[in-house]
Amino acid sequence: MRVLVIGNGGREHALAWKLAQAERVSQVYVAPGNGGTARDERLQNVPLTDVKALADFAVEQKITLTVVGPEAALAIGVVDEFRSRGLRIFGPTKAAAQLESSKAFAKDFMKRHGIPTAAYETFTDPAAAHAYVDGRGAPIVIKADGLAAGKGVVVAMTLAEAHEAISWILEDNKLGVTHNAGADGLAVPRVVIEDFLAGEEASFIVVCDGKHVVSLATSQDHKRLLDGDEGPNTGGMGAYSPAPVVTPNVHAKVMHEIIQPTIAGMARDGHPFTGFLYAGLMIDEHGQPRTVEFNTRMGDPETQPIMMRMKSDLFELLMHATDGTLDQVELQWDRRVALGVVLAAEGYPLNPRKGDVITGLPDDEDEAMVFHAGTATVDGQLQTSGGRVLCVTALGESVRTAAQRVYEIASGIQFAGRQYRSDIGHRALKR
Ligand code: AMP
Ligand code: GLY
Repeated sequence: MRVLVIGNGGREHALAWKLAQAERVSQVYVAPGNGGTARDERLQNVPLTDVKALADFAVEQKITLTVVGPEAALAIGVVDEFRSRGLRIFGPTKAAAQLESSKAFAKDFMKRHGIPTAAYETFTDPAAAHAYVDGRGAPIVIKADGLAAGKGVVVAMTLAEAHEAISWILEDNKLGVTHNAGADGLAVPRVVIEDFLAGEEASFIVVCDGKHVVSLATSQDHKRLLDGDEGPNTGGMGAYSPAPVVTPNVHAKVMHEIIQPTIAGMARDGHPFTGFLYAGLMIDEHGQPRTVEFNTRMGDPETQPIMMRMKSDLFELLMHATDGTLDQVELQWDRRVALGVVLAAEGYPLNPRKGDVITGLPDDEDEAMVFHAGTATVDGQLQTSGGRVLCVTALGESVRTAAQRVYEIASGIQFAGRQYRSDIGHRALKR
C-alpha cells in the first residue's frame, strides 16, 4: 500500500522512515520532503504543497493513507479537503485544529471543560492589556493569538518586559499575526495574557480516533536556544523519551484530567478530534499537571526519539485511528532511552542562514539516525535550507549513554555556523 506524508521537517522524515518499515507499506511519498527524504531510497519526494494538488496526487497514485505533519496544513483545512473527496487522511479538521491554531479558542475550550491550565484574559486593546499586566504583576506570559512557530510567546519575568511584548504584538504587530476579532470585521492582532506556571515541562502526545485514545511514549523538549535553558524560544533544540517527570501517577492524572475531557469535550462541541493531540504540560512540584498549550500534530523534535522507540507498526496504528478502532490497539515500546539533538543553522531562530554545505554525515548507523529537516540537495551537494537542519537521534541504555552516542555523531557533522545545545537531557540526568 502507498502512503503520503505531508511536510518537510525532521518530524516528517521520522514519520516517513517509520512508515516505510511497516509490513503492508510498499511506497512512502513525502510532500514536499527535504534533502534527507530525497536520499532515502525507500522514500520518494513529491514537489507539492497546495492542498488541492495533494488531494489530486492521492487520487492518481491510489494513496491508502495520508499523514499530516505540520500545523499550517491542518489550519488551512487539508483534512477537510481530503475527506470531502473520500480520501483517508490522519489529522484533525480545520475546526478541530483550532485547539492549536487559536490560543483563544484553546483557552476558552479548557475553561469551559474544566481542564487545568493557567488563568488568562484575551485582549485586542493595548491600553486594556497594559492595565491588566499592571494589576496582575510579573512573572506573566504574553502570547500572540495565531500560529507563530513557537515565536509568539514571551515569558516576561518583569513588568517592563511584559509591556514591551504587548507593544510589540498589539501596537506594532511585529509578528504579522492577525485574527478576525475587530468589531468592524477587520483583522486585528490579539494577545492572550496568562499567569506564569512554575514546574517542569513535558510533551504528552496521544493518537485519537474521535472517541478513543492511545498514548505514545512520553518525551521532553528543550525549547530555548542555549545551554541551561537560556536564550530565545525556538521550535525545539532537542528531545528525549521517556520523560521521567511523567511518573505513572502523573500519567494517570493527565489522561483523566486533561486528555479524556479534551476528547469528550471536542466531540460534544461538534468537532470530534482525530489526529495526534499533543498536550504541552507544566508539572508542578506536587505532580499536578497543567496544560500550557495544545498542538494538533506531533512535536518536532519529539517525534524523532519517539519513533526510534516505537516497536509497533505505525501504519496499522493510523489505520485503526482512521477506522475509529483505537480501542483494539496496544503499543509496544523499546524500553531504552532515545535522545535527539538538533543541529541548527547560524542565525536560528531569528534569521537562519541557508546554503551552507553539509559534510561528515555518517553512513547508516546501528540504533542511531540522522533525521533531516532544513536540508536540500543543490548540484549534487547537500546544503542547509532552513533553521533546524538535522536531528541526530540515538538509542541507549540510559540518557547518558544515548547522549554520548548522539554527541559523538553530531561532532563529526560539519557546516558553517552550525549550532547545537550540549546539554540535552539535563533534567533527566539531574534526577
Ligand atoms: P507555547 O507556545 O504556548 O507552548 O509557549 C512556549 C513556551 O513558553 C512553553 O513551552 C513554555 O516554556 C513557556 N510558557 C508558555 N506559557 C507559560 C506559562 N503560562 N507559564 C510558564 N511558562 C510558559
Ligand atoms: N517541539 C515543540 C513543538 O513541536 O511544538
